[in-house]
Amino acid sequence: MRAGTISVTDLHVTFRSRQGLVAALAGLTLDITAGELACIVGPSGCGKTTLLRVLAGLQPADAGHAWIQPADAARPTAGMVFQNGGVFPWYTVAENVGYGLRMRGIAPAQRAPIVRRWLAEIGLERFADAYPAQLSGGMLQRVGLARAFAYDPAVLLMDEPFAALDAQNRLLLQQTLLRQWEGDGRTVLFVTHGIDEALALGDRVYVMSARPGRIIATIDVPFQRPRDAAALRSDPRFGTLYGEIWSVLRDEVARARDAERDEADI
Ligand SMILES: Nc1ncnc2c1ncn2[C@@H]1O[C@H](COP(=O)(O)OP(=O)(O)OP(=O)(O)O)[C@@H](O)[C@H]1O
Ligand SMILES: [Mg+2]
Repeated sequence: MRAGTISVTDLHVTFRSRQGLVAALAGLTLDITAGELACIVGPSGCGKTTLLRVLAGLQPADAGHAWIQPADAARPTAGMVFQNGGVFPWYTVAENVGYGLRMRGIAPAQRAPIVRRWLAEIGLERFADAYPAQLSGGMLQRVGLARAFAYDPAVLLMDEPFAALDAQNRLLLQQTLLRQWEGDGRTVLFVTHGIDEALALGDRVYVMSARPGRIIATIDVPFQRPRDAAALRSDPRFGTLYGEIWSVLRDEVARARDAERDEADI
């Protein structure tokens, strides 16, 4: 099995809260080839973050199997970009970007050029010594992204990394991700609410059901690489695929809403 292959079989995760048991994932199966850019869409609360957390080793599963084939010992297996950026407020921007490298035991002299490169890539060179409180939400999200890339894991787990950005910055960062990924061929599992974003980025789009989540549809994305995230939207196939994904997702979003309403009635 190649490093970065993801294999999830019949995964179950249930949370115990004061309101009782919440089945987040039930019978989720997903196989992702090493080097694939895989996008997941699904209704809010269907267990997308839970799936990424299990893969990152942050959340135990109740049953089933979730596995990422590790790279060699020198390279981290998985890195996560969190829904809220996940930066540390007490570190500067540069320290945040270099954090993962520091955790890997990489010396400051070796870290510095990598951090500089990634700060340039996300356009925040001038903010290297600023603290997160001085940055906008979009800038913080870019710092989270740079940190994940600098860490250089075999698999990047990305949880709605661009959701907080304005439309122009989102497009720019989509391009940054595409250029980077086209060059390094790592596996990326990218969670998004945007069908258009999933189509612009992904080799494949996986649609999740309403909670408890499982994969209910897999759509192959035929667009050529290298891709231009902005230009794609005028491709006639874009609209057809969008409609195909939305027709599956629409029913699930409605189901999730009904379930929420029923729970609120209890
Ligand atoms: N620590 C927890 N304790 C109790 N319930 C939890 C916990 N974490 C998640 N849940 C519940 O599990 C379900 C799945 O949550 P999760 O965060 O994985 O959804 P999501 O698909 O990422 O949603 P969103 O699209 O809104 O980010 C939700 O109903 C959530 O309330
Ligand atoms: Mg989430």
